[in-house]
Amino acid sequence: VKIYIPRDAAALALGAEQVAKAMADGIAARGLDASIIRNGSRGMHWLEPLVEVETAEGRIAYGPVKGRDVASLLDAGLLSGGEHPLCLGKTDEIPFLKQQTRLTFARCGVIDPLSLDDYRAHGGLRGLEKAVAMQAAAIVAEVTESGLRGRGGAGFPTGIKWKTVLEAAGSRKYIVCNADEGDSGTFADRMIMEGDPFVLIEGMAIAGIATGATRGYVYTRSEYPHAIAAMTEAIEIARAAGVLGGAVLGSGHAFDMEVRTGAGAYVCGEETALLNSLEGKRGLVRAKPPLPAHKGLFDCPTVINNVISLASVPVIMDKGAAFYRDFGMGRSRGTIPIQIAGNVKHSGLYEIAFGLSLGEIVDNIAGGTASGRPVKAVQVGGPLGAYFPRALFDTPFDYEAFAAKDGLIGHAGIVVFDDTVDMLKQARFAMEFCAVESCGKCTPCRIGSTRGVEVAEKIAAGVEPEKNRKLLADLCNTMKFGSLCALGGFTPYPVMSAMTHFPEDFSPAPAVEA
Ligand code: NAI
Ligand code: SF4
Repeated sequence: VKIYIPRDAAALALGAEQVAKAMADGIAARGLDASIIRNGSRGMHWLEPLVEVETAEGRIAYGPVKGRDVASLLDAGLLSGGEHPLCLGKTDEIPFLKQQTRLTFARCGVIDPLSLDDYRAHGGLRGLEKAVAMQAAAIVAEVTESGLRGRGGAGFPTGIKWKTVLEAAGSRKYIVCNADEGDSGTFADRMIMEGDPFVLIEGMAIAGIATGATRGYVYTRSEYPHAIAAMTEAIEIARAAGVLGGAVLGSGHAFDMEVRTGAGAYVCGEETALLNSLEGKRGLVRAKPPLPAHKGLFDCPTVINNVISLASVPVIMDKGAAFYRDFGMGRSRGTIPIQIAGNVKHSGLYEIAFGLSLGEIVDNIAGGTASGRPVKAVQVGGPLGAYFPRALFDTPFDYEAFAAKDGLIGHAGIVVFDDTVDMLKQARFAMEFCAVESCGKCTPCRIGSTRGVEVAEKIAAGVEPEKNRKLLADLCNTMKFGSLCALGGFTPYPVMSAMTHFPEDFSPAPAVEA
């Protein structure tokens, strides 16, 4: 009998290691015939650690399990899916999971992340097998036709980026995976690296064959030790099995890769700062042009894609562009792994076709607030994303629809706040975040963010509120149009959306003269 206990960082933080140990001890003490598999997470955080057991009817889930629950689970006949207060029934029937369309995350939480056989048995490597037999331009065309756009946040068409690199002159080209997942409320990149690392390896190998790059780097942050360990081990396994190396799957293509770790500066998620960091330099933003696609790592043509963009490529190559682009709405094609966090009942990862409304996600899927109080604001797209009030809950999850409402999907993280949140404090926090994380290269971001904190504090103190509100808006305008990169350029989104949608929080009681 197989028992699955996650090795994902979120599950570990909630005690999965103690559960695994108690389970191993319990199995040994009772002389049971069972093995423990450490899988990735299914993405239902409120149920972690989620223990699953394989039965003839499918996998039965139990959660959230603590180490102290293990003995009673075994007594209740866990191995045959026995009844227990923590029993959730069949895993696939849990509504949060059942209603999803998992293409990129199809295997995450299902397989043993470090078993290449398990990966193959669940459809892995089929995309790469097709790619090695294709012309580079045909692979690029397939990815272009799928409609896949950059899942890091900017939504630039992946196929067009690859085409630029394919057509760029250069004897050396690189594939760089941006795994510097720094947005608040996001964890999709980490979940893939911990729960299905081979899908990222496969996606990067396909990108290499499609563009003529023979070397890849996964740039991630030191705060992700479990992802680093899983990726590093998976790369070694893939290399030993001939998936990576001089002859990818026995073909004439060469591709190899490694993991590089940054120190965790938010700005190193910006692609050019990332390249500098990867080259061993300080994480300073470079001016564009030249685009990394023309002059990237070590001045060579470079594809830089987010983890989810690259991890979505294998299913596109396997099932075809038409299959993938059939999901979604407008120019947002395929599926998007929405990461639900903050004050919610059901937090976790929810992969679904583009087009679901924000209200549907917050009220139905996330189940409203954990505090039971009314939702006041939802920040979509990380710390640089806009705050949306309930009045905008009909906005569909779509790049253009969010942009039309002065927001952004970004890396698809949403953080929910109840009515106790002070939006002026959130606006001040956005400016402070920018001041702390600024690389310092340009004035509107470096100086503007510090001035922004001061102005927000003056408004809070009731000092000339009208004049200071105008000043804050003026400052935001300068930062938006005068900054070199998204950090300074997007900080105005949370600030301005807070001021626009929640003006009452920006009109505190006037200061009392001493
Ligand atoms: P961008 O719009 O400047 O560029 C998007 C991508 O397309 C880049 O890789 C760029 O090099 C490439 N590109 C543009 N024109 C091209 C062409 N003609 N040929 C080939 N490639 C081309 O956006 P940027 O500054 O890279 O990213 C900003 C986004 O990052 C924001 O929307 C934000 O949501 C997101 N973000 C994500 C974070 C995360 O943790 N994932 C953190 C912070 C921001
Ligand atoms: Fe650096 Fe800020 Fe300018 Fe970006 S906007 S280059 S982080 S100073």
